Amino acid sequence: MSKKPASAPPICRSNIHDLVPYVPGKPIEEVEREYGITDIIKLASNENPYGPSPRVVEAMKKALDNVRLYPDGSCYALTKRLSEHLNVPTDHIVVGNGSDEIIHYLGIAYLEPGDEVVQAHPSFVRYEAAAILNGCQCIQVPLKDYTHDLDAMADAVTPRTKLLFITNPNNPTGTIVTRSAVDRLLDRIPERVLVVMDEAYYEYVEDPEYPDSLAYIREGRNVISLRTFSKIFALAGLRVGYGIARPEIIWAIHQVREPFNVNSIAQVGAIACLDDPDQVERGRRVNRDGRTYLYAVCERLGLPYVPSQANFVFIDVKADSRVVFQELLRRGVIVRTGDIFGHPTHLRVTVGTPEENARFVRALEEVLAALK
Ligand SMILES: Cc1ncc(COP(=O)(O)O)c(C=O)c1O
Repeated sequence: MSKKPASAPPICRSNIHDLVPYVPGKPIEEVEREYGITDIIKLASNENPYGPSPRVVEAMKKALDNVRLYPDGSCYALTKRLSEHLNVPTDHIVVGNGSDEIIHYLGIAYLEPGDEVVQAHPSFVRYEAAAILNGCQCIQVPLKDYTHDLDAMADAVTPRTKLLFITNPNNPTGTIVTRSAVDRLLDRIPERVLVVMDEAYYEYVEDPEYPDSLAYIREGRNVISLRTFSKIFALAGLRVGYGIARPEIIWAIHQVREPFNVNSIAQVGAIACLDDPDQVERGRRVNRDGRTYLYAVCERLGLPYVPSQANFVFIDVKADSRVVFQELLRRGVIVRTGDIFGHPTHLRVTVGTPEENARFVRALEEVLAALK
């Protein structure tokens, strides 16, 4: 990440100054360099610990033969495969370089200076960047019991609100909002507000009260769902995500989209993932077992945690999370601190393989014992 210079070029847009750079989970290579240790595990960015299946990897290796050519700018084959998978027409889908890129495009396509964006806090940080970049205010509505307070978010809507983000499950807490809560919100807010349902962790959810966002879209509501191949499908490094909405909503995103925004390997890999449903089933099962294990450990250690519908758990370690984070790093375990989310004693820990989970727990017990 580049450092802010002493003085920025006078011609750069004034809102660039207000952007807070995204701080990603620490890469393994950086920890190796800084601490001179190997055998590091990363439980910091909610990636799938197993990676894509051999069939998916094989399909991507074959696609390497064609990298001299530009990718299919329309993502024709992937869009068609997603349309079958989701049972929605192809004109309801836009594919992005990660769902991050679609959040960015939503900002460019929909926001003008003076508009407002409503989001929960703490939640995913990229919505605010889309608002600031486009000269808009981002209204942050505090979570209630670690969950989106949709009534308060509806109250925060003004005549200037263009986008309202619902992160479901929420990052960093892993909680969901229910169908009835979303129904109530949609009935309360004006039709013109575009509701963005960010469902990056959709495939992990098992709660029967989880809303079917595609049903809202089929009803003609002003809703866009965002999903990704970065999480359960294990393609985070390739950057591929997608949005689903009525064609006129999708059209505006295509208008601002880069012509070749999704690389050819990502397109082939994503199709291969959809053709391999076992990977999702296995991912869900391993994640469920890992979460159960982490909950049991938290209960044994007397550490409060937020029950999660995603592949991470928000744990109150009852100590300064930055200190715990540093001590875990020394032991080769990378997690996320809660201070960046306004919860200075929490850690957000991605569910790893059973071995990784056990190693995190051993390191955490050691660190907490030393801090006593
Ligand atoms: C809630 C949420 N939305 C979007 C993203 C971005 O995902 P992608 O890798 O598809 O850009 C993430 C990534 O962690 C996330 O947690």
